[in-house]
Amino acid sequence: MPKNNNKAHIIVVGNEKGGSGKSTTAMHIIVSLMKRNFSVSVIDLDGRQKSLVRYLENRLNYANKHEIKLTLAEAYTLTRSTTGDLENMMEEDTINFSKLMDRLTPCSDFILIDCPGSDSNLSRLAHSYADTLVTPINDSFLDLDLLATVDADTFKVNRLSLYSEMVWDARKYRAIRDHGTIDWVVMRNRTSSLDALNKRRVNEALKELQKRISFRYIQGLGERVIYRELFPKGLTLVDIRNTEQKITMSQIAARQEIRRLMSELNFPGWQEERA
Ligand SMILES: Nc1ncnc2c1ncn2[C@@H]1O[C@H](COP(=O)(O)OP(=O)(O)O)[C@@H](O)[C@H]1O
Ligand SMILES: [Mg+2]
Repeated sequence: MPKNNNKAHIIVVGNEKGGSGKSTTAMHIIVSLMKRNFSVSVIDLDGRQKSLVRYLENRLNYANKHEIKLTLAEAYTLTRSTTGDLENMMEEDTINFSKLMDRLTPCSDFILIDCPGSDSNLSRLAHSYADTLVTPINDSFLDLDLLATVDADTFKVNRLSLYSEMVWDARKYRAIRDHGTIDWVVMRNRTSSLDALNKRRVNEALKELQKRISFRYIQGLGERVIYRELFPKGLTLVDIRNTEQKITMSQIAARQEIRRLMSELNFPGWQEERA
């Protein structure tokens, strides 16, 4: 059974690029965990887009409108401090963030934090609290550049990117704070079934990169229209069976993909708790 032991497992979904699938992935992780009766607290740090807040609001509206039972969660938001000088702002952010974490920890098995696609003090803080950091990247060399610049022929790392350096710092802060480690998982998102050559090359490059930057690289999710269609209803692939919709072959394959994702993320208690 889910058990908190006063230590919530903290999942941070982050990278420094908008539109790579952070909020979509976050939502699927949240609903997958809730479906197995884990208590999940949600923090949306993307104060501008608030996609996760909106996703969860859509979910509540859909459940009410269609009178169906859906697992629901509330997303907490934190807005970055804007008062005083930079030092003041950073201090205020830190206080607000740790207060919220202290409040949510005793009542959560998992705390999921969705980050904005840009660098901010709050996002840095969140990264330094992560037990698992999930970084979705789209299937192109442009997105690989978020992690490191690689040699075009050998895929050897030339230079780490700002984001990888930020994660490196977060790992240091985490180690200093509580000797903890961050399981950094880079997942591909929106992989196309068409461009086999590009897919293979990105695959090779990521295999090379993971040795150098210490992340685990996993397969992730394919490009599927269904992910875009589910947002307005607040639904995920995990819910499809609970709605009146007829399930299609493509949705069955997509659900399989989500199950594999959850299994590879390997959160504490997940493997034991078979649905
Ligand atoms: N695997 C996928 N297949 C198709 N569309 C996707 C996929 N993942 C995300 N999207 C779509 O891409 C857009 C950006 O996704 P989002 O999760 O909001 O990214 P981020 O939070 O990183 O900005 C959304 O319109 C979303 O529906
Ligand atoms: Mg987002």
